[in-house]
Amino acid sequence: MKIIITGATGFIGRYLVLFFSERKFPVVALSRNPQKAKNIFPPHVTCLPWKNMDAASWLDELDGPAAVINLIGENIAGALWTRSYKQKLRDSRLNSVETIVQAFQQAPGRDHILIQASAVGYYGNVHHKVDETSPAGSDFLARLVVEWENASKTLEAVGVRRVLARLGVVLGREGALRKMILPYKLFAGGPLGSGKQGFPWIHIADVARAMLLMIEHDELYGVFNFVAPQTVTQKEFSRALGKVLHRPAWLPAPAPLLKLLLGEMARSALLSGQFVEPKKLLAAGFRFQFPELKKALEDILK
Ligand SMILES: NC(=O)c1ccc[n+]([C@@H]2O[C@H](COP(=O)([O-])OP(=O)(O)OC[C@H]3O[C@@H](n4cnc5c(N)ncnc54)[C@H](OP(=O)(O)O)[C@@H]3O)[C@@H](O)[C@H]2O)c1
Repeated sequence: MKIIITGATGFIGRYLVLFFSERKFPVVALSRNPQKAKNIFPPHVTCLPWKNMDAASWLDELDGPAAVINLIGENIAGALWTRSYKQKLRDSRLNSVETIVQAFQQAPGRDHILIQASAVGYYGNVHHKVDETSPAGSDFLARLVVEWENASKTLEAVGVRRVLARLGVVLGREGALRKMILPYKLFAGGPLGSGKQGFPWIHIADVARAMLLMIEHDELYGVFNFVAPQTVTQKEFSRALGKVLHRPAWLPAPAPLLKLLLGEMARSALLSGQFVEPKKLLAAGFRFQFPELKKALEDILK
């Protein structure tokens, strides 16, 4: 089975390219900057250009069993959520899905899988536990995720097995954690706002392992929450991070200040949260390598 990864030079993409190529899968890395990809990845990884709404450069790669892992999306915390940045968040996601849908439609009838990145932002700001059957929220992020997930629905009619990976905050050496640890190193770490909001998280190694499970098991499809089974609040996360870094975690970032500085992004992405259960991954027999937060942080920050 060939593994085709879009957004390949991003945080999760880099990890997955190496994970699958180390396991001897033929891997195709698609990037807007294929030269950068070539410089990062080992020579046996095929690096091809990605262009929104034009799959010509990689369409031939679908000529046989293939799993496309689509990770494309402008960074949610990449800039203030102005009207134009919100448009970028939406366009980058919907255009990439549309491009992949068109590619699959031109190469139907094979053993094809789409693993589409999604996010637990789907559930909005909720204080109770949620699983894959829970309803969507109504804020900007939740509405965006609903559109993002629905954009590939038509693939089911052409026989593509579709998995929607609703990711929690992915913990790894890069990504969000790297930004989060800076205040702790400066002895100024602490929870965001009240800290009572849920903080769904998953170690990046488990993201890769769960994707491998999806690829290897034909009977798995639909939505899967990609989160660790240990649900924690933002405050508990902050305490665990402080402990592992041997730094205090008592300085809260006040909610009014975050809202003033970051506007809607603070309200919708930092001060809100969810307590998300990986019900379907557990039912599928997935064994987390890092089910506990402290061990996950120790592994990453050792
Ligand atoms: N990391 C998390 O904690 C987390 C949590 C929930 C959901 N997710 C979702 O998972 C996906 C991957 O996350 P990540 O952390 O790896 O993100 P990332 O580091 O920002 O990487 C995303 C990649 O998408 C490509 N991309 C970005 N904007 C694009 C655009 N306008 N047009 C075409 N390609 C574009 C880029 O790849 P190239 O430059 O190589 O083309 C970029 O490196 C994202 O969709 C994200 O929303 C991530």
